[in-house]
Parts: sequence; structure tokens; C-alpha cells
Amino acid sequence: SKTASCLLSARKVGTETIGAEKELEGSLKQLVAKLFEIALTVTVPDEPDVEPVVAPCPPKFGDYQCNNAMGLWKKIKDKGTQFTGPQPLGKAIMSNLPQSEMIESCSIAGPGFVNVKLAKPWIAKRIHKMLTDGIETWSPKLNIKTAVVDFSSPNTAKEMHVGHLRSTIIGDTLARMLEFSNVKVLRRNHVGDWGTQFGMLIEYLFEKLPDWEAANDQAIGDLEAFYKASKERFDDDPGFKERAQQAVVSLQGGQEKYRKAWTRICETSRRNFQKVYHRLGVHLEEKGESFYNPYIPGTLDILNKKGLIEESEGARVIFIEGKNIPLIVVKSDGGYNYASTDLAALWYRLNEENAEWIIYLTDVGQKDHFDMFFTAARRAGWLPADDKKYPRVSHVGFGLVLGEDGKRFRTRSTRVVKLVDLLDEAKTRCKVAIIERGKGKDWSEEEVDKTAEAIGYGAVKYADLKNNRLTNYTFNYDQMLNDKGNTAVYLLYAHARICSIIRKSGRDIEELKQSGTLDLAHPDERVLGLHLLQFAEIVEEACTNLFPNILCEYLYNLSEDFTRFYTNCQVVGSAEETSRLFLCEATAVVMRKCFDLLGITPVYKI
Ligand code: ARG
Repeated sequence: SKTASCLLSARKVGTETIGAEKELEGSLKQLVAKLFEIALTVTVPDEPDVEPVVAPCPPKFGDYQCNNAMGLWKKIKDKGTQFTGPQPLGKAIMSNLPQSEMIESCSIAGPGFVNVKLAKPWIAKRIHKMLTDGIETWSPKLNIKTAVVDFSSPNTAKEMHVGHLRSTIIGDTLARMLEFSNVKVLRRNHVGDWGTQFGMLIEYLFEKLPDWEAANDQAIGDLEAFYKASKERFDDDPGFKERAQQAVVSLQGGQEKYRKAWTRICETSRRNFQKVYHRLGVHLEEKGESFYNPYIPGTLDILNKKGLIEESEGARVIFIEGKNIPLIVVKSDGGYNYASTDLAALWYRLNEENAEWIIYLTDVGQKDHFDMFFTAARRAGWLPADDKKYPRVSHVGFGLVLGEDGKRFRTRSTRVVKLVDLLDEAKTRCKVAIIERGKGKDWSEEEVDKTAEAIGYGAVKYADLKNNRLTNYTFNYDQMLNDKGNTAVYLLYAHARICSIIRKSGRDIEELKQSGTLDLAHPDERVLGLHLLQFAEIVEEACTNLFPNILCEYLYNLSEDFTRFYTNCQVVGSAEETSRLFLCEATAVVMRKCFDLLGITPVYKI
């Protein structure tokens, strides 16, 4: 059956048959590309550097399509080739595909597109293998060891706003995808814990809480109010302002009393941030701006020796081609700034932490800042000119979160949104919904609580992640908590439903794995099976291009495919029960891995 028409004329390459057990490394797309790579080499031996261009294709043509013929034809037509056009070239590529159990049939379409239809037994075997060996065998292979993900990064004593929430959610997902790809990820919270605002905060602390050293941890109270009040004092009272400016000097000079006050303010702030991280289940390691202070002079010295730093209006700057304003690295008052810190942090990450890929998450508004210091680093020779080559830096920008009114998201009462309140609200609403569904009575209180958390926080995360991050999106509880449509609620319920199908069958999946086989006889089974296999290439694409919405879209389509399968194919009590239970289990496993990568806790019961 595996020798379909095209394969009859296929050449065997060496003694290997592609698709055999030991050749199963890589995503589906990569495996198909491997076959075409061989076919291309055999077809046009004089063009050894042609990369196979392979992509999934519309189902009426097959599963994957190779689009090389046209481009290749243009390349060789004037070099005295035996081929008379892209079509014959495509046909030759097709007939040179090596024999493989992967392929059921091939065909030619349009100007030399080669379509392949994968063999069902092969798809089935691969899924079964994942079930026995684990989903980790489908993880992307990236050619790097260490990455830094710089995310969340709120500012001490200021409010952590929805922008920081986006940074936290998207950054955590990217870190998880890299970790799944066996990259060591340094999850860095680049907290804004340094700068002139500390002068006024410290001075206000001395004024308001003279015995602050003896006072307990809670004494500062609400930091945002504290910040606001100190800012008012700063703006209204010239005497205070002067003292505050003097305080900055004392702090930077390392005076103990000032240092201690600074530490106290940072601690209070950190405790507040931690509440958000705790709810989101996000783990970060804080290396705030202050951490890099000692490295700034040395870093600037290196850049200076390379002749990058110039004098301009009393400041020290780096001019960047194509930008009107230079990058200021030492202010005219001699102080350092955001850019000097980022340059030192980059130097540290590259040289002390040996990071090969450094990923920064902030709103798109900071794009210029990143572009500029990336360019400076490139000019200094720290990074290769090709920005896709390692060591590599990437700014992952994102849009705004909007409220119902289409303006920046805020709550009615306060100017800004308190993130903890926002997450608690999502949870509360889920709790109400669970109880309304009648689940309150047969579940323990803890079960209700844990489920409400999983769904509520999951919904907030998913509503953010499912959008292309560059666009703005509207925050809407009713939408994100809807159990229909592309929401976490719908997806989590879909997963729980699959788990309940398996539970109710009364069969032990672990036992079945030893004996049973997977068959994809029904068309809807095949569609679902193929989609499962595409998980690996999707994660790789989402991760290498830094777009988590690609994974969300995949997950949503997967659950739609599952629904279609489940509607049209009886599972429990059918002749195909064992095979179909496998398909249910494989879907649940892949869905769970998607949830895991998105930072969403799965639920098993609804
Ligand atoms: N603290 C900054 C802000 O709130 C974000 C820091 C991002 N990271 C960095 N290395 N610049 O806007």
C-alpha cells in the first residue's frame, strides 16, 4: 500500500529508507522537507544549496506541498538544463522522492507544485509512539543552550499596570516554550529599582515615618498612595525637593541610612508584585536595574574605546544612523539612565551569563529604545550583523489593553487597574458560574476554589495570548469567561470532557498502550491525527518567531477537530473503542502540553 504510483519510480538513496524508526527525529514538516531535500539533490545535482520549501496544503491536494519547482526553474533555465519548464521539473522532483513509509501518494499541481499525502499507518504509528515515549519527544530542537527572558519588570513603588501584566503573561509563555525546547532560561525581572525618584521616596519616608527602621513591614502601607503623596510634596515644596535631590546623591554615594531606606521601599514593593506572580503561577528571578550599576562604568569604557561615545550638549551619547535623537548614555548631570543600565545588562548577560538569545518584553512604545541600544551593541561587535544569528537579541513588543470605552483599560473608581483585584474578580466570577452549573454541591470547597482559579486566571491569560501581541485588545470579562468560542473556558471544558470520556470507558490507558494499536480509518480521525502530529512544528514556529498566538490558534483548531471526530465517531462501545480511546488520550496529552506552555492549569472535571 505504501508504494503508490510515484514511489514505483522512486530511487532508493543509498541503502537508507527515509521514515524508518531512527529517522523519526524532527517535526512533521522537517521530515517531509528531508524527503524533498533528497529528491532535489538527485534532480538537480548541480544546485546543492537549494533549501526545500515545504508547507501544509489544502486537503484537496494532500497534506504537504513542495513549492521549489518554479524558483528552481528560474535559476537553471539559462544554464542549459534538460528540463523544459517548471512542470517537468516538478514531475522529476516527485519521481525522485525516496521510498518512504511516510508517504501514501503524491501528485503534481499547477506550475510544478508537488503534493504529498501522508500514509495513515505512519501517522498512527507516530502518535502511538508519542503516547508511549512522552510528548517531550516532540519538543523543538533549538541550537542554543542559554537564553535570557527579560519580562514583567515593573517599577518599584509605582503601580504594576496592565502593560506589566501583558509582559508577565507573554514572557512566561515564551520562557516555557524555550524551556520545553531544552534551553536553559534565565527568567529575569528587570525591576526599575533605581533612579532619581528614590530621592523623594526616601525623603518622604523619613518625614512621614521617622521611626521607620523600628516600624514593621506593613508600615509604609499602600505604596502607590505613598508614591503619589511623595510626588506631591516634591512638586509643591522647594525645600523638600532640594532634600530629595540631596538624598539621591547620598543613596548613590552608598550612605548606609539611605541604602537601608531604599531596601525597605524595594521590599515593600516586591511583596506587592509577588501577589500577582503568585496568582499567575509565574516564577521570576529579580535582577533589577540596581544590580547592573557596578557594571556601567566598565561597559561604557568598552564602548568608548571603540569610539562609539561622543559628547553632545554636555551629555555623553551614541549617535545611531537613521535616528534623529542620539542614545544618551551619561546625562549632562553625570548620572546614568535607562539606556546605560540596559547596555551594562546586555554586556553582563552576554559575557557573564553566556546567554545566546536575549528576549525583552515591553509595550511597542519602547521599540525605539531597544532598536537604538541593539544597534549600538552591534556596532560594538557584541552581536552579529544578521539579527537572526546568535548571539541574538529580540524585542518582543505588544499593544495596549483597552477598556470597553476603547481607551486604555482602567476601572471605574481608580485611575489604574489593580492587577490583584482584576485577577480576583475573574476567579470570583468563575466560582459563581461553577456553582450555578450545579457543581457546588458535589464538589469540595477546595475543588471549587482550585477550579475557579484555573479557569479564571487561565481565561485572563488566554484572552491576552490568543491575539497577535502587536495589536491592542479589549479586556472584557463576559467575553473571556464565555464557555463558547475561542476562550480558555471552552478549551478547558473540552479537555475535561475528553478526560471524562476516558474515565467513563473504564479502560486503563496505560495497559492499552502495551497491546492496542491506533487506526485512523474514519476521515475525521485522520484529520485529528494529522493535526496532533503538527504540534511539534507549531511550537517551534511560535517559539522561534515569538508569537504565542500561533499556539493558541492551534489549540483552538485542535479542539474543533476533536469535537468533529467525537460527533461523528462513536468511541465507547464501538468496535474501534481501543483505537479511538488512544486518539482521545493523545488529544488530551497534546492539549495539556499546550496549556502548560501557555501557563494555564488544566482541569479534569467539569
Ligand atoms: N521597567 C520598565 C518599564 O516598566 C521595563 C523594563 C524592561 N526591560 C529592560 N531591560 N529594559 O517600562
